[in-house]
Amino acid sequence: MKNIRIGTSRPYDVHIERGSLKKSGELISAVLNSKKAVIITDDTVDKLYSDTLRESLEKSGISFDIFVFPHGEQSKNIKTLSAIYNCLCDNSITRSDFLIALGGGVVGDITGFAAATFLRGIEFVQIPTTLLAQVDSSVGGKTAIDITGGKNLVGAFKQPALVICDSDTLTTLPEDELGCGMAEVIKYGMIRDENLFEICESHNIRNIHEVMDEIVSTCVDIKRQVVENDEFDRGERMLLNFGHTLGHAVEGWHNYTNYTHGMGVAAGMCMITRRFCDEKLAEKLEKCVEAYKLPISTEAPMIELLPFCAMDKKCESSSISYIVCPEIGKGEIRKTSTAEFFRLMEG
Ligand code: NAD
Ligand code: GLY
Repeated sequence: MKNIRIGTSRPYDVHIERGSLKKSGELISAVLNSKKAVIITDDTVDKLYSDTLRESLEKSGISFDIFVFPHGEQSKNIKTLSAIYNCLCDNSITRSDFLIALGGGVVGDITGFAAATFLRGIEFVQIPTTLLAQVDSSVGGKTAIDITGGKNLVGAFKQPALVICDSDTLTTLPEDELGCGMAEVIKYGMIRDENLFEICESHNIRNIHEVMDEIVSTCVDIKRQVVENDEFDRGERMLLNFGHTLGHAVEGWHNYTNYTHGMGVAAGMCMITRRFCDEKLAEKLEKCVEAYKLPISTEAPMIELLPFCAMDKKCESSSISYIVCPEIGKGEIRKTSTAEFFRLMEG
């Protein structure tokens, strides 16, 4: 068991323990006085884990309703958000009550945004059930929904009251979803931790479960350091976007269908490393990425990807920030004009 305290403007713990879903009622009661909640989850996670959560909440005397929406990114929108608000009104949720996000990053992002905005802010607890959500999206307080103009374009910073990571829940993840999370884990190794990268390198998609608790707590601790230094994403936090500028572009080029975020990040990290770093490092990263059945490049022509890069949130009117890791464990933020970035990437 490990507790990592996140020292943001609103401090909270990330509790990492196998089997902790079963005692979530007890863990929540230790940090929140309220005895009334709404669980938000998707249909896949509902079938797998709602009963365990319900039982635990009942034992702790917490009353609850549950809101279930269809799984997938296409649900992270204003329509689902509006249905969540209606459910909260139907349940007479007040500022003393709270929400529980049970699921992956989609559930966590939309629940966090509902918590940030309903009644101008109520408490929420994250119970992430994907590797990506445990190592990344549940920690740090970024919440959002997608709009027609783009992914995550409407959101808020809202730190949760508690995060409960039960790595037993990761055993039911399909291999491609596990791979998606591993793209983020490899990213943490590349930007901050050579030892973590070596763990990734010496395992693969079939045996990585053996070291899951160590991986989750190492990544959460790296995210803690970055977020504590730059909670509102004005500088150092950009490091977490290694591989993401090109990754988002590749996802966008594929119309966000049949191409996951993790695949985009993996391809993005490899393409940037090939372009800006020495060949040995690029080969090492590519070998590691391939062990998790992730792509190392894309069929999309660079010229067609670059307009998507220009729409990135890290892009100002004529400049773009991107991340390069000249050595494993040492990420650097670089900023250049969009025109120069285009020239460098096309070259
Ligand atoms: P997701 O929530 O869609 O989960 C992926 C799939 O796995 C879904 O179909 C889900 O039903 C299923 N699933 C979840 N847990 C499961 C389990 N234990 N067993 C079996 N199936 C399970 O996607 P994700 O990859 O977790 O998150 C992606 C989202 O996170 C994106 O919307 C992205 O924008 C967001 N994100 C946010 C942040 C942040 O800082 N807030 C960071 C990274 C990504
Ligand atoms: N996932 C990037 C961040 O939290 O900043």
